[in-house]
Amino acid sequence: MSQIMPLSDEAIAKAALWIADGQPVAVPTETVYGLAADATNARAVAAIYAAKGRPQFNPLIVHVLDTATAARLADFSPLALQLAAAFWPGPLTMVLPRRADSPIAQLVTAGLDTIALRVPAHRAMRALLAATNVPLAAPSANASGHLSPTRALHVAQSLGHNVALILDDGPCAIGLESTIVAPRAHGALQLLRAGTITAEALRAACGVALVEGPAGIIEAPGQLAQHYAPRKPLRLNATTAASDEVLIGFGEVAGTAGYSLSRTAALDEAAALLFDRLHDAEQSGWARIAVAPIPDDGLGRAINDRLSRAALGPPVAPSIPQPVKQDEE
Ligand code: TXA
Ligand code: MG
Repeated sequence: MSQIMPLSDEAIAKAALWIADGQPVAVPTETVYGLAADATNARAVAAIYAAKGRPQFNPLIVHVLDTATAARLADFSPLALQLAAAFWPGPLTMVLPRRADSPIAQLVTAGLDTIALRVPAHRAMRALLAATNVPLAAPSANASGHLSPTRALHVAQSLGHNVALILDDGPCAIGLESTIVAPRAHGALQLLRAGTITAEALRAACGVALVEGPAGIIEAPGQLAQHYAPRKPLRLNATTAASDEVLIGFGEVAGTAGYSLSRTAALDEAAALLFDRLHDAEQSGWARIAVAPIPDDGLGRAINDRLSRAALGPPVAPSIPQPVKQDEE
């Protein structure tokens, strides 16, 4: 079992060491316990997915201490600033345009050009953010398919050996994941996930109409309508490249001009590099992209899930994301 430490200066110092070492740590927030890792370290983010056994790379929420820090990662419209002033710190997540110079790993945002940001209120998460001095990516700290944890014991039961350290600061006050909104063009606001900050509270705070997602769209877990796809055709399970293709290698399959997800066939390395290599291939001079076969186990499942979506091409109407699923993971 993982180590459970009650919140103390010593526990925070220890957790910060794990984070600096690229390992995820479970930490309470006011909503649910999160599995936190350095959002600027792609390998650390890959370790979150590995620990959860998530078969998809869903984009993760990035937690920071304050609005000023958040504003270095995303572009804030006047509406976004208004919402930040009204609800941060607290259980509100905003999906905003990712800044081009953002140091956040591509794996966190799953290659998207938007980023989900939250300034949490919980003293344990805030102490960890202050001690690590890095933005922390944190999904709920449960194995994929399990309920979100609201106590340290839930985390231990769900993740077991997959997490080195669980900070215990008692049950979460809210117990429900944060409300997610996306400020849209023309001052509109779209509700992506319901939470304790209600549509009424949002409307009262900023006076704008709330666009709810089109009714009746039920998405299977992880079937986000918005996903990153390169603007070039992509072919899977390739072992050699055609003359107009750039081949992204893996293991034995050597890629074009050294392009590889992992020469040693390490899935965590491949996960960490996936979206960077796809972006690179998109920018390259070749007309098409081919990708070597990836074993379909562990992180390989999440990699193959994303590759198969990328092979389908860009989603329809990429500028208006569909409502995200009610997160059950
Ligand atoms: O309360 C919470 O928000 C908790 C605590 C730990 O902070 N975290 C949490 O994270 O619920 P997670 O990863 O389980 O849920 C993140 C949700 C997912 O449904 C994901 O699709 C959505 O946020 N999301 C993240 N980035 C997004 C983006 N760029 N565009 C649209 N949706 C995004
Ligand atoms: Mg979750």
